[in-house]
Amino acid sequence: MEVEIKKIQSVTNIHLDLLLLADPSIEKIKEYLIDSEIYTALINDETIGIIIIKEIDHLKKEIMNVAVKEEHQNKGLGKKLINFVINIEKNNGTKIIEIGTGNSSINQLLLYQKIGFRIASIERDFFSRNYQEVIIENGIICKDMIKLSIEYK
Ligand SMILES: CC(C)(COP(=O)(O)OP(=O)(O)OC[C@H]1O[C@@H](n2cnc3c(N)ncnc32)[C@H](O)[C@@H]1OP(=O)(O)O)[C@@H](O)C(=O)NCCC(=O)NCCS
Repeated sequence: MEVEIKKIQSVTNIHLDLLLLADPSIEKIKEYLIDSEIYTALINDETIGIIIIKEIDHLKKEIMNVAVKEEHQNKGLGKKLINFVINIEKNNGTKIIEIGTGNSSINQLLLYQKIGFRIASIERDFFSRNYQEVIIENGIICKDMIKLSIEYK
């Protein structure tokens, strides 16, 4: 299974459908897409994954969204996409890479820590305040934003 990772300049509905797997708010997705970099993962020209990274300042970037098509999940593709952008950023001199997830996103917390991210901060009630719909995962309500980071000296 040959996976190609490609930078793209604009998104189609196929990309938006993938981004919605990770973030239920199309308005928020459209907001952070404006000044972000977008990479997609393809198998035989079919888009099966996407990752969005945004500059916070000249030393810090944040992964705003990462998603893999359901039938291709748990095969290492999410890890591959995240490690791909980490390597680019490391070479570009980025010192801090952040990623945020909900308190209820247990598998994501596992994945990010396996990659090397460490919990940096918690923004309590971020999801309760910013999302109209109640998000429930793994039987618990998603209320708090957990920010994780990787830092390079
Ligand atoms: C989160 C997501 C991007 C991960 O991508 P993926 O390709 O499924 O994940 P990977 O196969 O690369 O997983 C790597 C690690 O995460 C862990 N993991 C991922 N999914 C898991 C699951 N369902 N159960 C247990 N562990 C899991 C595994 O421990 C795995 O570690 P290993 O390589 O040591 O086995 C993908 O599941 C997805 O698109 N989910 C929906 C969107 C989403 O929630 N995005 C993140 C928003 S914060």
